[in-house]
Amino acid sequence: MVSAFIDHRLDGVIRVISIINRNSLQPLYCVYCSTEHDCRTVQADVQIHTDHFSFPYGASDVICKGKHVQNATHVLILSQLTTVLNLSSTDEKDSVDPKMEYLPIRNKVARETFKFNFTICISSLFGDYNNVLQFAQTMEMYKLLGVQHVVIYQTKCGPDLEKLLKHYETEGILEIVSWPIDKFLNPSSGWNIKTHKGDIHYYGQLVTLNECIYRHMYQSRYVLLNDIDEIIMPYKHTNLPRLMEDLQSAHPNVGVFLIENHIFPKTQFEDSGKFKRAEWSNIPGINIMEHIYREPDRKNIFNPTKMIVNPRKVQQTSVHSTLKEIGGCYHVPFNVCRIVHVRVPLQGHLTKEQLFVDKRVWDFEQELIPNVDHTLKLSGLLKVSS
Ligand SMILES: *[C@@H]1O[C@H](CO)[C@@H](O)[C@H](O)[C@H]1NC(C)=O
Ligand SMILES: *[C@@H]1O[C@H](CO)[C@@H](O)[C@H](O)[C@H]1NC(C)=O
Ligand SMILES: *[C@@H]1O[C@H](CO)[C@@H](O)[C@H](O)[C@H]1NC(C)=O
Repeated sequence: MVSAFIDHRLDGVIRVISIINRNSLQPLYCVYCSTEHDCRTVQADVQIHTDHFSFPYGASDVICKGKHVQNATHVLILSQLTTVLNLSSTDEKDSVDPKMEYLPIRNKVARETFKFNFTICISSLFGDYNNVLQFAQTMEMYKLLGVQHVVIYQTKCGPDLEKLLKHYETEGILEIVSWPIDKFLNPSSGWNIKTHKGDIHYYGQLVTLNECIYRHMYQSRYVLLNDIDEIIMPYKHTNLPRLMEDLQSAHPNVGVFLIENHIFPKTQFEDSGKFKRAEWSNIPGINIMEHIYREPDRKNIFNPTKMIVNPRKVQQTSVHSTLKEIGGCYHVPFNVCRIVHVRVPLQGHLTKEQLFVDKRVWDFEQELIPNVDHTLKLSGLLKVSS
């Protein structure tokens, strides 16, 4: 069990976002309680998401329907009815605190005004990832583009990035959700089970993306689902609010906007060297301002998308598309919006002459550079004297 939410689109059922071993399926039961003494037990409807990349454990929804579910405040999933715990039991023989077993039920009230317009969900941060400069530049870019809230599901990261995360958390833009999946499963660090073995795809990315959508259903008008090194960048509008105003008025019912990913190899540097700044020379990570060469599309190779979604129109999501949505999807043209993704090349054999020059990030230079410096100073990563 990960998190529980009321789903107002489905008559107010309780949806418990869960991780289930697909190889040992069994009937499951929901125990939901409205007060400490008023609990009911029903058989659950279990929906294992169709995308699991063949890993044994998969993102799942356990749906609880029954009388008075709307009044419930806590829920528990069980595989055997005999082990029902009494929420108010004070029996000292219980080895676990029964209150710990229940999840609080969230999204009890469906709202129509939101605290944020744009929230970014970064699905899994793990290992020794310490790409500070790219993260600071990406966060500052998102602020200029109109994002108010960023959420990161964190298992672990490198020491310098930890300082930067703390800074953004204090500033208020960043919410860090603890994601200790390695305490429960052996998570894979990739998407391909043959090359990265494990119990579950990419540190449970599919679970965190779904959790993030439900967590922000009544918090944010739009949710952007992309990785930590990707910027969903408008090319015809100055920021995300203007982009979405146009897209949404042209496609009023659409709740899922698919944005193409484009690779900017970190191995190709722009020639002038004007962004090779001394201030950043000791900051670990990639300097995205130096990488303005974009790889061309490849014939017959699927160019994956990431998404901007209206969370109230999504029931289940995968990484590159939704699995169950309401109102349809729209593939946003590449010249309107695309992802700037600076990383190791996918077509490493190409020379500069075979790549496209794409300097969109430079349009933000005047504000971006001082903002990044300011952030690095406040985080203690850049000496104030320099
Ligand atoms: C559920 O809540 C509603 C509204 O607060 C109340 O009228 C109703 O009696 C409650 N039902 C139960 C079973 O507690
Ligand atoms: C739960 O435990 C409390 C306190 O021990 C008891 O009063 C109550 O009847 C129990 N409820 C159920 C459903 O067993
Ligand atoms: C969200 O957008 C609306 C409409 O453009 C605007 O009035 C509101 O201030 C924005 N909210 C935030 C938190 O920026």
